[in-house]
Amino acid sequence: MIELHYGELAARVAALTAGEDDPVALMATVACEVHHADDRFDWTGFYRVVAPDLLKIGPYQGGHGCLTIPFSRGVCGAAARTREVQIVPDVEAFPGHIACAASTRSEIVLPVLDAQGELIAVFDVDSDRPDAFGEADAEGLARILRETFAR
Ligand code: SME
Repeated sequence: MIELHYGELAARVAALTAGEDDPVALMATVACEVHHADDRFDWTGFYRVVAPDLLKIGPYQGGHGCLTIPFSRGVCGAAARTREVQIVPDVEAFPGHIACAASTRSEIVLPVLDAQGELIAVFDVDSDRPDAFGEADAEGLARILRETFAR
């Protein structure tokens, strides 16, 4: 597997989204480019904040994703509640994990903030491999989300 170079991925996303400010277009581009950048990623997408304490699916790549997630549930809800990155090496060990696919073994979910620091979504990447995500992924993905949505 080619080692994912987040600097190159960030530059590609920046070039593709230059001058764009529509959130759906930005989310669709980020989901597509991140998903196809690494074969560890088998579900990549956004859950948008649509009401206080409620997330609703946004642009994604991969199999069907559940449509709504309250902040009280799942890894996505934990990222929304805490505004902290959630790295889950074993989804079976995460209390309340929501399994959209039986193949998911590990997951990373990051909060997505806008330029005013408001939570607008969470970004969810699933893998069919155990313990697939680490700090380098958290930093690289957080950089892409910051440069795309908080600019
Ligand atoms: N696993 C997530 C739900 C989203 S599906 O994986 C796409 C969670 O536990 O919040």
